[in-house]
Amino acid sequence: MDKFIINGGVQLEGTISVSGSKNATLPIAVAAAILADSASVIHNVPNLRDVETLCAVLEVLGATTKYKNSTLYIEPISRLVHEAPYDLVRKMRASIYVLGPLIARLGRAKVSFPGGCAIGPRPIDLHIKGLERLGAKIQIIGGYIVAEADGLVGAEMLLRGQYGSSVGATANVMMAATLAEGTTIIRSAAREPHVSDLARFLNAMGANIEGIGTSVLKIHGVKQLRGTEYAVVSDDVETGTFMVAGAITKGDIFVKNAVPENLTAISEKLTEAGVQLDWEDDGVRVTTPRQLQAVDVRTDTFPGFPTDMQAQMMGFLSVTPGISIITETIHTDRFIHVGELNRMGADIQVDQNSAVIRGVPRLNGAPVMASDLRAGAVLVLAGMAAEGETTVSRVYHIDRGYESIEKKLASIGADIIRVNDYGDRRRFPYHEPQYLLVHHTPHRR
Ligand code: UD1
Repeated sequence: MDKFIINGGVQLEGTISVSGSKNATLPIAVAAAILADSASVIHNVPNLRDVETLCAVLEVLGATTKYKNSTLYIEPISRLVHEAPYDLVRKMRASIYVLGPLIARLGRAKVSFPGGCAIGPRPIDLHIKGLERLGAKIQIIGGYIVAEADGLVGAEMLLRGQYGSSVGATANVMMAATLAEGTTIIRSAAREPHVSDLARFLNAMGANIEGIGTSVLKIHGVKQLRGTEYAVVSDDVETGTFMVAGAITKGDIFVKNAVPENLTAISEKLTEAGVQLDWEDDGVRVTTPRQLQAVDVRTDTFPGFPTDMQAQMMGFLSVTPGISIITETIHTDRFIHVGELNRMGADIQVDQNSAVIRGVPRLNGAPVMASDLRAGAVLVLAGMAAEGETTVSRVYHIDRGYESIEKKLASIGADIIRVNDYGDRRRFPYHEPQYLLVHHTPHRR
C-alpha cells in the first residue's frame, strides 16, 4: 500500500489544474453503458480508481470500455445482464446507479445491497421509493435488491428524506424516468453540479429533462436514447481542495478550470475567513494577504456547503486563529479525520454532529492514516501546512477520488513523494500509476 511522505512549510505557488468530476463521471458512464443504444465518447474523465471499478461493473453487465488520455469510450451493452454481484458492488457504493437504468431497459434488476462505509450507514430508501413510484416492484432478498417492472410509467414524487434531497436517488430515478412512459416530476431533487451534469448528458443522448439545476425536475419519457460525445464538468470538490491548499500554505496559486457557480458556498466561506479569491475566465487565483479569522460552517445540500469539503475546511480552520464551529448535517458522524488532525497538534472537539475547532499557530508532522477519501485529502493539506515530516498511509482512499494528487501538488511546489511497500520513492515525474485504465475485455456470461 502506497504512502505519501510530505515535508511541510512550503508556500505553494503556480497553476494547478482541476480534472473532470468523479461524481458526474460515474452516473454518466452508467447511462452511456446501459441506457444508450450506440457508443458514447466521454471527455474530461478523471483517471481514478473509482472510475476503473465502475467500468469493471459495467463490463460484467456486458459493456465494453476503453480509456485513454482522459477520454472514456463506452460501447453500449447489446446483451444486457441484469445482475450486479456483491463482489463488485461492495467495492463501490455508486454501483447502485445501475439499478434504475437496468429496470428501465430490462424490466428487471438484481443488484447487491450496498453496505455502509466509513462516513456512516447510508440508506437507499429514497432510491427504492422513487423507482417504486415509477411502477417497479422491489424486494430485498438475500442481500440483493430484486426489482421487476412491466414497463415504467412516469409519476410525481417528493424525493426528500431526513437529511434533505439525495444525489444518488435523484440520479437513479432520473435515469430510469428518461425511458418511462409519460412525464415524471421529481420534487426536492438534488441540485448538486454532478446531478445537473448527468441531466445535461442525458439530454445530449436524446432525453427530455426540464428544470436542470433546480429542485423540480420534469422528465418527459422518450422511446430511445443514443450514444453521444460529451465533456464532463470539472470537479468541484477537487477545486475546493486545491483552493484550501493555497490558503492553508499561505501560497499564491491559480486553480485552473474552477467553475464559480459550482463553488459559491466554498468561496463565500474562504472569503469570510480572509482568503482572497480573484476570479478569471478559466479559474481562480487564491492568496492570503490579510489576517485570517475563524468562521462557522454548516454543511447542506447544494448550493449549501458540501459535506465532501467539510474535512478539508476543518484542516484549514485548525490553523486559523479563533474558534470555528463546523456542523455536519448530511453525514452526521463524518468526523473520522478529527483524531488524525489532533495527532498533528490540532485542537478539535466533537460534540454530536458539531466540531469545535480552536485554531492553533501550527500543526506538527506525524504519521497519520487516511480512512476515507476526503478524510485522507485533509491529511495531505495538513501535512503541507505542518512543521516537519508527515507520513500519510493508506493513500488508496485518496486515489479513489483525486487524480495524481501528489503530482499536481508537487508541480506547484509541495514537497510530497509517493512511497510504495517496497520503499521505492517516486518523486514527480514518475511512471503513471498501475490502475491506469486500459481496455477491459468484456466478460460475458
Ligand atoms: C453523493 C456523493 C457523496 C456525497 C453525497 C452528499 C457520489 C458518488 N457520492 O453520495 O460523495 O457525500 O452525495 O453530497 O456522488 N439518504 C437517505 N436515503 C437514501 C439516500 C440518501 O436517507 O435513499 C441520506 C444519506 O444517508 C445522507 C443524505 O441522504 O445522509 C445524502 O445522501 P446522498 O445525497 O444520497 O448521497 P450519495 O448519493 O450516496
